[in-house]
Amino acid sequence: MAEQTGGDPLFESHDPIFDRKELLHVGHVPDEDRIVGRDDEIQSVAAEVGAITRGDPPNNVMIYGKTGTGKSLISRHVATRAQDAAQGNDIDCGVLYVDCSEANTETRTTRQLALSLKEQTEYQQNIPLRGVGTMEYYQHIWGILEDCFDAVIVILDEIDKLDNSNILMQLSRAREARKTDAYIGVIGISNKVQYRETLDERIDSSFGHRELFFHPYDASQLREIMRNREDAFQPDVLEDGTIELCAALAAKKHGDARKAIEILKEAGELARRIGSETVSEDHIQQAQEVAEINRIEELTSGATVHAKLALYALASCIITGDRETYKTREVYERYVGICELVATDPITENGLYRQLKEQAFLGVIESEKTGGGRSQGSYLLHRLVTDPKHIVKAVRRDASLEDLPTYDRLRETSPSTGNRDTDLTSFS
Ligand SMILES: Nc1ncnc2c1ncn2[C@@H]1O[C@H](COP(=O)(O)OP(=O)(O)OP(=O)(O)O)[C@@H](O)[C@H]1O
Ligand SMILES: [Mg+2]
Repeated sequence: MAEQTGGDPLFESHDPIFDRKELLHVGHVPDEDRIVGRDDEIQSVAAEVGAITRGDPPNNVMIYGKTGTGKSLISRHVATRAQDAAQGNDIDCGVLYVDCSEANTETRTTRQLALSLKEQTEYQQNIPLRGVGTMEYYQHIWGILEDCFDAVIVILDEIDKLDNSNILMQLSRAREARKTDAYIGVIGISNKVQYRETLDERIDSSFGHRELFFHPYDASQLREIMRNREDAFQPDVLEDGTIELCAALAAKKHGDARKAIEILKEAGELARRIGSETVSEDHIQQAQEVAEINRIEELTSGATVHAKLALYALASCIITGDRETYKTREVYERYVGICELVATDPITENGLYRQLKEQAFLGVIESEKTGGGRSQGSYLLHRLVTDPKHIVKAVRRDASLEDLPTYDRLRETSPSTGNRDTDLTSFS
């Protein structure tokens, strides 16, 4: 495969670094024997939906966990295995997967469910793509389930992006309401733990469900995950210790398997670009920097200017100060000064507090309540989860904020350079 040249010398006949690069692609679904360190989670998900394979009613389950902890992978994996096992018992079990970050309304989700059910069967009726409402899509769903299936597993990924939760009620009541005889098991997935709190307010008891929590991977699990994809590279290209380093860096930062794999791939790209024959620890370090900035940029790109300024303010406190954590008040004071630099009206301290909370949510910062003693009350201390350098870089990528001081400019006022008293506003 890698040897095909097409005969044109403009294109290398052989990739010196990668052999099966597709193993490192973001959307790549690894084979069963490449799934590592999630045996308990696989068992737990199987225990909830597994009754389907015996012709019994399944449980619904909600899976929570940070990004890159294998939620989507494990859900699809277990659902497919359940489908095969059901087949072995002469039970027709469908698997439906919807990414609710794309299908973010009930109409879109039900349309996609109806269409993918139709795809899996001989259903003849036309399902219109537009011009019809949710009810009509439900009719098709119940119709197909009734005709063609004994059971179905519905995976609603990124379910927090759905604008309402009615679909959960519809799916869980379908049998009772005599819409269909098929058993329906829902696997809901979210990386927003807050969604868990709002879910109870949004739905009634008809959507009975269990909850599972997936934890970030530790270094040894990340190492295994990457080892199992080592054959993405040509033999002997990865230098000793590179996977270990990559795993250690990713585990320290976030325990996110997707990022760990991305770092490995980026390091390979880098090595190839500069004509190196091997991937070294140095390449991993550099790739990790790039990946981290991308991660921060992804996380902050949807944020408001004030959220970005809030992050920048905290980063600037850390860079110019001598501590890792700062109170809301301190961040606010810095933030007000920074607003002046970019000629923006500051929001209130409480508004800033809410912005910081939102960022804590996204995993960019960590906020910890500290008791200040009985008379002082408690206050929040904020710290960055990432290198402040990355925050400064990511925030300055916003065209309206590119005039903010660079990391190096901020460093000039840090205590280690003995220049602490320089007023931040003197950069303007
Ligand atoms: N246990 C594992 N073994 C092998 N590869 C894994 C494992 N867990 C995750 N991966 C890989 O890491 C990437 C991220 O996993 P996945 O998409 O399942 O994460 P997620 O928890 O759904 O994250 P998000 O909340 O961002 O959607 C995928 O490419 C997946 O193949
Ligand atoms: Mg996912």
